[in-house]
Amino acid sequence: MERHQPAPAAHNWQRNSIVFGCDYNPEQWPAEVWNDDVALMVEAGIGLVAINIFGWATLEPRAGEYDFASLDAIITLLHKNDIRVNLGTGTASPPPWLSTKHPEILPVMADGTVRWPGARQAWCPSSPVFREHAMRLVSKVAERYGSHPAVALWHVSNELGCHNALCYCDVSAASFRRWLESRYRTIERLNDAWGTTFWSQRYGTWAEVLPPRATLAAGNPAHVLDFERFSSDELLDYYRQELAVIRSVSAIPVTTNFMVTAHIRTLDYWRWAPVVDLIANDHYVDNRLEHPERELSFSADLTRGLANGNPWMLMETATSAVSWQPRNIAKVPGELTRTVASHIARGADGICFFQWRASRQGAEKFHSALLPHAGTDSKIWRESVELGSLLRRLSPVAGSRVEARAAVMFSWESWWAVDADSHPSQDVNHLREAHRAYAALRANGVTTDVVPPGADLADYSLVVVPAVYSLSSAEATAISDFVAAGGTVIITFFSGLADEELRLRMDVSRANPPGAFAELLGAWTEEFFPLGADESIVLDDGSSGSIWSEVVRVTTATVLARFADGQLAGHPAIVSNSFGSGRAIYIATALDDNAFGTLVARELTRAGIVGTSLGPDVEVVVRVNAADRFVFVINHSADEVSIAGTGTELTTEVSVDGTLVVPSGEVRVLREQLVSS
Ligand code: GLA
Repeated sequence: MERHQPAPAAHNWQRNSIVFGCDYNPEQWPAEVWNDDVALMVEAGIGLVAINIFGWATLEPRAGEYDFASLDAIITLLHKNDIRVNLGTGTASPPPWLSTKHPEILPVMADGTVRWPGARQAWCPSSPVFREHAMRLVSKVAERYGSHPAVALWHVSNELGCHNALCYCDVSAASFRRWLESRYRTIERLNDAWGTTFWSQRYGTWAEVLPPRATLAAGNPAHVLDFERFSSDELLDYYRQELAVIRSVSAIPVTTNFMVTAHIRTLDYWRWAPVVDLIANDHYVDNRLEHPERELSFSADLTRGLANGNPWMLMETATSAVSWQPRNIAKVPGELTRTVASHIARGADGICFFQWRASRQGAEKFHSALLPHAGTDSKIWRESVELGSLLRRLSPVAGSRVEARAAVMFSWESWWAVDADSHPSQDVNHLREAHRAYAALRANGVTTDVVPPGADLADYSLVVVPAVYSLSSAEATAISDFVAAGGTVIITFFSGLADEELRLRMDVSRANPPGAFAELLGAWTEEFFPLGADESIVLDDGSSGSIWSEVVRVTTATVLARFADGQLAGHPAIVSNSFGSGRAIYIATALDDNAFGTLVARELTRAGIVGTSLGPDVEVVVRVNAADRFVFVINHSADEVSIAGTGTELTTEVSVDGTLVVPSGEVRVLREQLVSS
């Protein structure tokens, strides 16, 4: 797997500081407001402003007629005030004249219905007409501002794939066929990969292949998976097209904002990461989840994984409530600092917000901003200003790296593949199992990397493989090799069952159960027994499982726990096997959090990994550079906590001699010198 290497131009984008920035949509305000805005930005310490994200209708009010007056003015104003610009290419949402003139650019859903203009991002990723118009705009913008001294970064489109990733129109169908042809070369190979002999699906020519449009019964899962792969690649191709236009006239680093989050799964960012100059992510606290703070830290650690450990940027987050959840919960005092600190602790060197000034009109007028409707006499504004000052105090952290000896494997392809129809249980979800595994490590105070299948695992002592359903042979072998060389792996149910074409992994010449890990685990699975919706199952060590159980047959493994009730009472639930110089553990159910935490604690001790556990509600993460260790302690709990340490505490700027005390709800960052100056 190609991992991200920053382009030379991207070096030191943070300028040895933690960047404080925001989206700014000045076109929704009269020009008189802009001066106040920029003066307040200076007061808050804003250093980077994303503009022109949705600028198309303003820049090109009629086809081919461009008006750069307001964009010129706002860039000049920001530049005068020493605020750098993160310049949107402006293509995120086409103006109404374009879809009126060319309705063929509109996206079509699986059931053939069209998604109309009126919101945003209503364009088909494959549409040559859309692309032609978009590239014309990009080229105008890039030529005009490509060497402007204020521009620090290019921001391509916006959250590509947020709404329009999957388009099933005829143009997309033709592009899908081209993608398939380059993947499989011959139609016979495609037939073989998709197993089309079943249900009479065999294709005679490429022209017969369609996107997986709405069907009467379950679609072919390999067909569906390839369409998701294609759709991610198609938008990546679109990104590359904008990139090429920008690169032809500008040397400024180029990026786009990813959505590494629990509710959007449209793009395989492992494939995108090598192509952007800087990894940038948008993350909002998702109060629909049971444990939003875990999801936040998983997302941040995964984003660092995409950046291959290099500093990354939080391109968008919210000071308080968003406006797109069913109930938009405001942040309580201190929560903003804790969430931001968690991103920085996990490698972010830039913290930017959507948006600068809360809107008065439009779909997002109830979304929080740095400058709320209430103005500067408000909790949010005071917190925004305080945050700017905190980020300045944290500037020594910039450029340092997070070190981890444990990793969780995560794969967008498996997320898509597990979600296919006609599986043993609709409750199996790769992301949820990744979160479960990650939570067990987090509760033990262990910093965790998130890695793709096929990653080099040599730096880790413990790796968890959570419901990673589809793996290529090389990816499966990399896991076994890691264990043979002395590593510990914890594999959870529904992992390694299928190859990358979703063929169950089995030797066709004899009866044998599917799975890549029978030898590694010293165990194999005879039959799945998924649990009912709210059912749980007790294990004989007092723990419990949900979602899943199965008949595990042991060959060389030792049984660590057995199911104690239900149909599988007496059957192994958790087994462990020595393999080469390492150990492999298999968990045949969705283990409860406490038991998973305890199991992980035991394996961490064996693997020689020492966590700083102050309980699941206190995050302790360390960033290091050649001279310093920065110990972040983020206390979400109701109690004061303390850890040993000596150095300077950056948030309060006081020295600490022996014990760092962190009051309830607060954040502390201890700078410990590694070398004496
Ligand atoms: C996304 C988008 C922004 C805005 C925010 C609201 O991140 O990029 O334009 O809609 O969500 O949370």
